[in-house]
Amino acid sequence: MVYLTRIERFNAAHKLWVTEWSDEKNVEIFGKCSNKNWHGHNYKLYVTVKGKPHPLTGFIIDAKKLGKIIRDTVTDKLDHSNLNLDVDFIPQHLQPTTENLVILIWQQLEPHILAEGAQLHYLKLVETETIYAEYYGEA
Ligand code: NI
Repeated sequence: MVYLTRIERFNAAHKLWVTEWSDEKNVEIFGKCSNKNWHGHNYKLYVTVKGKPHPLTGFIIDAKKLGKIIRDTVTDKLDHSNLNLDVDFIPQHLQPTTENLVILIWQQLEPHILAEGAQLHYLKLVETETIYAEYYGEA
């Protein structure tokens, strides 16, 4: 089994906020990510697929095609968006945290990667220099 990783980037705004809580509690729990007037992050998404290299092409998946799948199904929708309001695959009741995003991104990507004959193995979503979330598709 061989693992191939493609990296794509997007920039987006969000706010972490629970409406049932007081302003003070939101600030206490979410810190700067609770800023009422939004803030942005420069996200970096690592998508790792696995499979056996094709005998003729040597590819697990055509890396150009993988990049296009990631952009068409995920990063073009997220880039320059408001993650709380704008993205069809992010439910509005869900906090747009890195942890939730990585699960939703997996759900978007997996069928397209399977259709190309490869398996999605791992996602890493980097939110800042010091925070990232990883996901292997488990519940
Ligand atoms: Ni934030």
